Amino acid sequence: MARLDVTETFHGISFPGHLHNQDSFRYALDFKFQDTDILIVTYPKSGTTWMQEIVTLVSNRGDASKAQNQPNWARAPWLEQYYCPEILKTSQGPRLLTTHLPYQLLASALRSSKAKVIYVARNPKDVVVSYYHFHKMANFLPNPGTFSEFLSAFKEGTVHYGSWFDHVKGWTSNAGNIHNFLYITYEEMWQNLRGSLEKVSRFLQCPLLEEEFISTEKNCSFSTMRESSMVNYKNIPQEIMDHSKGSFMRKGQIGDWVNIFSKQQSCSFDKFYESKMADSSLKFVWLKPEESSLLNSRQDTEILVRHAA
Ligand code: A3P
Repeated sequence: MARLDVTETFHGISFPGHLHNQDSFRYALDFKFQDTDILIVTYPKSGTTWMQEIVTLVSNRGDASKAQNQPNWARAPWLEQYYCPEILKTSQGPRLLTTHLPYQLLASALRSSKAKVIYVARNPKDVVVSYYHFHKMANFLPNPGTFSEFLSAFKEGTVHYGSWFDHVKGWTSNAGNIHNFLYITYEEMWQNLRGSLEKVSRFLQCPLLEEEFISTEKNCSFSTMRESSMVNYKNIPQEIMDHSKGSFMRKGQIGDWVNIFSKQQSCSFDKFYESKMADSSLKFVWLKPEESSLLNSRQDTEILVRHAA
């Protein structure tokens, strides 16, 4: 299935036709969850691949052989992508699944299930920057235009996979309707990886010994994952992902948005964020702590701290 230029629309949201079709959406909506299933839920570019690696490693008690030998999309298939049924036919043991679908589309399938749902969120300024760069290399996504154009589309929710705001609010405000739900952020994982691994291991009821935690931490670090062909998509043909235009494992940082947002874009995004998230109690970390203090003391300058510019 090439369909690189095809857009599939489902319930008003656009998706890459390279990976989705109407049958694949219906399969996801009718999915029969088992209580042993683990479902990773994210808006794109929020740390999906990282959590897929973490869950794989924690479930295997720090043993990296599965993570090193099976691509992430095969060991944690996206429920709504067309190849998912084939993968699940041959998978063994408890199923690890991934989805970018909004809550309202999966609510009914999850209703009576005890599947464990892990929602990973990331601050939206870093999400939009990561997503913008990803659009440049992923030939199954539309041309993003300028950053300013892409930022407007992101705010309006007309990019592929829909509105970040609706996605995050939809899942988190319905957490109480999901039997087993863990909310975690990219920034928490970044700032306290060991604590995050302990959280995931408790949630999965999969206790690890000290050396198993150490192995997990090492194997899900950015430096290890960047070199792993099972997660860096370097084996994907050039016509689908053009690695001359960027890397999937790009920077792996908090606060990279300061390098691309202008001050005006940042202020306008902050206002927009406040209006859209007024009914949400979620709090995000926007910068690394040391950069936050620099930013606060330099608010009057054009943008912030332009790293190593
Ligand atoms: P950047 O583009 O900001 O570098 P997803 O898997 O949801 O598509 O998210 C991809 C983003 O997560 C990319 O962000 C990628 O570099 C980052 N990422 C992946 N693995 C990571 C890790 N181990 N540590 C930190 N960031 C990671």
